Amino acid sequence: MKNGLEDVVAAETQLSDVDGEAGRLIIRGVSLDDLVADSTYERTATLLLDGLMPEALDEASLTRRLGEARADIFRHVEAADATILALPPVDAMRALLARLPDGEGSPVAIRLMAASAVFLPAVLRLQKGRAPIAPDQKLSQSADMLQMLNGTPPSGEQTSALDAYLVTISDHGLNASTFASRVIASTQAGLTSSVLAAISALKGPLHGGAPGPVLDMLDAIGQAENAETWLGNALDKGERLMGFGHRIYRVRDPRADALKNALKPLTATGQVDSARVALAEAVEGAALSILKRRKPDRPLDVNVEFYTALLLETLGFPREAFTGVFAIGRTVGWIAHAREQALQGRLIRPRSVYVGPLPKAA
Ligand code: COA
Repeated sequence: MKNGLEDVVAAETQLSDVDGEAGRLIIRGVSLDDLVADSTYERTATLLLDGLMPEALDEASLTRRLGEARADIFRHVEAADATILALPPVDAMRALLARLPDGEGSPVAIRLMAASAVFLPAVLRLQKGRAPIAPDQKLSQSADMLQMLNGTPPSGEQTSALDAYLVTISDHGLNASTFASRVIASTQAGLTSSVLAAISALKGPLHGGAPGPVLDMLDAIGQAENAETWLGNALDKGERLMGFGHRIYRVRDPRADALKNALKPLTATGQVDSARVALAEAVEGAALSILKRRKPDRPLDVNVEFYTALLLETLGFPREAFTGVFAIGRTVGWIAHAREQALQGRLIRPRSVYVGPLPKAA
């Protein structure tokens, strides 16, 4: 028995491979760097779903159908009542998604991908007392999300940065939420159920719930010269540094650099707070050196959440919504895994070792 199922192989997949020793991520045969350099959300979604849907999906038809689905799903925003809006954004988004019908085919898959992108910006606006903005189906998913969030057309650099983020986090091996999605798919419950289970797993702070706390940490540190002391005090109290460490990566998480690079065109065009980026880089450097000194036996490096925090903040997402944006990007990965699992057709049903008391002998 391995606690946390560490190193246990529980699925065969053609979708992605995470090499934790080399710090390499491959998504359907393409390395992350190449994918981010040459891709949009729609192109990556087409790649991930290739061969897993009953009919072939090309990029143009997926783009068109996603736009139509966003326009159609907007009417469901009306269901966001006071009870739903009192929830944290990712929970409100999950509640709205839970109203959608289950099923296996591409209409259900595309509706889920579109719905998550529509519901989160709408919830964020409604929670601030502002009217939600209707989708524009002619835009790409990333551009439309930013317009629905901020109420103004995004710049090309902003759209590319969100694309880079959504592509970077689209899939990542058998992480906890993807495993949850596959477990549900193996029961043939349907894609909506798989995605709902996956969101529920993702929202935990040990999985996708860390980028908000990364910003809290940057705020608390405030200035580069405070970093060393602040981080040392946090470790003295037994706290973990948010945005560092990973179950699989023993070197730098390749997604961290993909996101750091995605910030560069925004920095070059003055669309990012350069003091904030400088602070983050100083905190990163200080954290790496203090972790090396304090935990010499455990290689701990930057993970995806650190630069996610900076990128999403720059694009206008409030920190309490970061987990929800992660869910929007990962939904296509969850769906691809759920379909792959369903096509393999075997119910996931591991065993446990009973360590409780035995009944008294008669
Ligand atoms: N800061 C400080 N110490 C850390 C750490 C961090 N971020 N991550 C791991 N460690 C330390 C642990 O305290 C432990 O030290 P110990 O052996 O002296 O007690 C050691 O490294 C191993 O920790 P373990 O809990 O076995 O690692 P894990 O593989 O279960 O942890 C994470 C993976 C992601 C849960 C963990 O690194 C973490 O909590 N990171 C912060 C949250 C975060 O950024 N999450 C997003 C992940 S993408």
